[in-house]
Amino acid sequence: MAKKKTPSKNARTTRSTRHKKLTTTIPHLISPRATIGKNVKIWNYAYIGPETKIGDNTKIGSLAHVDYNVVIGNDCKIEGLAYIAPMSRIGNNVFIGPSACLTNDPYPPSDKMIGVTVEDGAVICASSVIKAGVTVGENSVVGMGSIVTRNVPHDCVVMGVPARVVYSRQDYDEKRRKWNQ
Ligand SMILES: CC(C)(COP(=O)(O)OP(=O)(O)OC[C@H]1O[C@@H](n2cnc3c(N)ncnc32)[C@H](O)[C@@H]1OP(=O)(O)O)[C@@H](O)C(=O)NCCC(=O)NCCS
Repeated sequence: MAKKKTPSKNARTTRSTRHKKLTTTIPHLISPRATIGKNVKIWNYAYIGPETKIGDNTKIGSLAHVDYNVVIGNDCKIEGLAYIAPMSRIGNNVFIGPSACLTNDPYPPSDKMIGVTVEDGAVICASSVIKAGVTVGENSVVGMGSIVTRNVPHDCVVMGVPARVVYSRQDYDEKRRKWNQ
């Protein structure tokens, strides 16, 4: 029969002192200083920082990180794992795909931050990264995996690294209509 392994004295010490040494403050997942609108759904383990405002009927997916001083409008969908940096401004009816990243520091770590603005009706697809200070225009679409380094005009689709305009929002809506049929 295999001999039962007893933990070493050191191992026992480490385990018993682990909690005593824990001095880190674990913040609330949803800050009591955040303002959350009506009928908002926030899924497991999403973080919402202080001074952040979330409008009515917005959904925030699991593990999304919505930092402090962010404004998100009504009827938005923020998918799981999205990172929304401090000072981001997101309009109404915006879709932010999974793992999308809105940045705010062009030369980290710097002392000066500038947020991303996403205007009403825009769609930011999965895993795209938006440079600090960039505005994504009304109803525009950022294709998955794009790196957006310049302002995006309204009503267009951009994609690629760096992202460039490829077609119009009207064309996108037509593709979606056909797909839905
Ligand atoms: C922007 C998007 C809608 C474009 O799709 P599309 O118009 O159907 O594009 P197609 O698949 O017809 O591809 C057309 C061309 O663009 C390229 N392309 C498509 N999507 C691209 C992207 N995101 N980045 C770079 N190139 C892309 C294709 O490789 C193809 O190039 P080719 O003609 O040289 O072969 C799509 O890329 C996208 O992001 N979809 C959303 C996915 C998502 O994030 N969903 C979220 C919830 S899961």
